[in-house]
Amino acid sequence: MGYDPAMSRSSVSSERSGLRSVLATPWIYSAFSGLVGASAARREFVRRYVRPAIGDSVLDIGCGPGDLLDFLPEVRYTGFDISQRYVEAARRKFGNRGEFICARVGDAAASPPDGFDVAIAFGVLHHLTDESALDLFREARQAVKPRGRLVTIDGCWDGDQSAGARWLLARDRGRHIRSAEDLVRLAGTHFDVVTAEVRHDLLRIPYSHVILVCSSSEAGAARRGSQPNAWDGSRSEAGPGSEGQKFSMEAGQNRGLGRRGGTLAGQT
Ligand SMILES: C[S@@+](CC[C@H](N)C(=O)[O-])C[C@H]1O[C@@H](n2cnc3c(N)ncnc32)[C@H](O)[C@@H]1O
Repeated sequence: MGYDPAMSRSSVSSERSGLRSVLATPWIYSAFSGLVGASAARREFVRRYVRPAIGDSVLDIGCGPGDLLDFLPEVRYTGFDISQRYVEAARRKFGNRGEFICARVGDAAASPPDGFDVAIAFGVLHHLTDESALDLFREARQAVKPRGRLVTIDGCWDGDQSAGARWLLARDRGRHIRSAEDLVRLAGTHFDVVTAEVRHDLLRIPYSHVILVCSSSEAGAARRGSQPNAWDGSRSEAGPGSEGQKFSMEAGQNRGLGRRGGTLAGQT
């Protein structure tokens, strides 16, 4: 994967104001994440949704300073990010525990290699336009093995969220906050099976997240076989305090997603 400093500078410059520019400094970003409770969120994201096996090959798209690596078991890790500063900070912190590359989602000359067991995008999609988000889904689909998966998490709009969460989301650095339904539609362009869960309890501050698990029909069928009902219920089984809502969608269902009661559902 290649790196174009001019491209990186211009893409990031729109975020250079106030808290947004301060968070471009890797250690401040990591400290701020810690304050709002991102460590617990990362642990839960990995444990419940990514579920990596020891030895898996993991691609971390938009890896930032690599903070997720602290929560992964012994895996073969490759992270890439558009920000040279974040990538350098990750290399300094993690050394040869992973490979960190400066590259941009959608850069045809720098697309990631294939053969990964799992691709992750933690807090990235809400920074991307629809066009770039589609690039991310396409690249991830190409990068993972036929039975591999992409797992993403982002802030989202949701009818059940608090006023505080809406206020904070409106001020997020990412300018492309979406609803779970909109994200599932985008993901469904490149993945056969997309499941989503909305959580309002992952940070210390009021905030709503949507987690997507995207796979090919082969991998999705295998997972449903091994975990009956894992994604088909109307409420999350995430444990005490969880306010998760979940829904799933298979190929051909990405038109007319709607809510049934408190549950989001794919409709053919
Ligand atoms: C909220 S941060 C999340 C960072 C990291 N995933 C984490 O868990 O802390 C979003 C990241 O996406 C990166 N990013 C934004 N647009 C990108 C693009 N087009 N290609 C690659 N990375 C991008 C940013 O540089 C930033 O590191």
